[in-house]
Amino acid sequence: MRKIVIAGNWKMFKTQREASEFLQKFMPELENTPEEREVLLCAPFTALGILSKSLHNSRVQLGAQNVHWEDEGAYTGEISGSMLTEVGVRYVIVGHSERRQYFGETDETVNQRLLAAQRHSLTPILCVGETKQQRDAGDTELLITTQLKKDLVEVDQQNLVIAYEPIWAIGTGDTCEATEANRVIGLIRSQLKVPDVPIQYGGSVKPNNIDEIMAQPEIDGALVGGASLEPASFARIVNYQ
Ligand code: PGA
Repeated sequence: MRKIVIAGNWKMFKTQREASEFLQKFMPELENTPEEREVLLCAPFTALGILSKSLHNSRVQLGAQNVHWEDEGAYTGEISGSMLTEVGVRYVIVGHSERRQYFGETDETVNQRLLAAQRHSLTPILCVGETKQQRDAGDTELLITTQLKKDLVEVDQQNLVIAYEPIWAIGTGDTCEATEANRVIGLIRSQLKVPDVPIQYGGSVKPNNIDEIMAQPEIDGALVGGASLEPASFARIVNYQ
């Protein structure tokens, strides 16, 4: 049985106070959420400590949005795996398109970060996906398979989540058709050694499209940006029908 993983990616949103306020409204909404759904919040570094305390012994797991490949060192602005695990982080997003686009992340650094995450017993969420230009040029399949090949060198697929995030669908309100997301996710699965890696869809997931997305047989969850910032909206997504 493949695991269902619904993750909020808060990006550079929410102070500690805002994170606490979110939880106060969000947690009561999870009373009837089926146990087998893994729910996680990938928060900014400064909110991790307070979230970890509040989420202790709860059903919500904590995730971060980046991890460095070295265990420590002179890497101004970066964060190590042990710094994350010490505050109770269990998952970490790696290779998000915003990191690739704005911060010079390459398939090589993505691979190094994936390996470092696993070395520290964190479960990485690897993001892959094509730009509009690549899609229009018919390069989606080639791009995805190339990213997977380079990013997953020596990565343990037993401890991994993948998110298919078409870049043109992120933050645009322009969701990928559920059946098309299902097709690409099937392609991703065909490239893996371990067939039951959970593969999420990400890109303008909202309360009004989550049911259709989760009805697709290949899709094992969602990576949710904008719609994870508001408690009622993320709760509706987690409680998809
Ligand atoms: P979005 O972001 O849901 O706001 O489109 C998704 C993501 O970037 O992970």
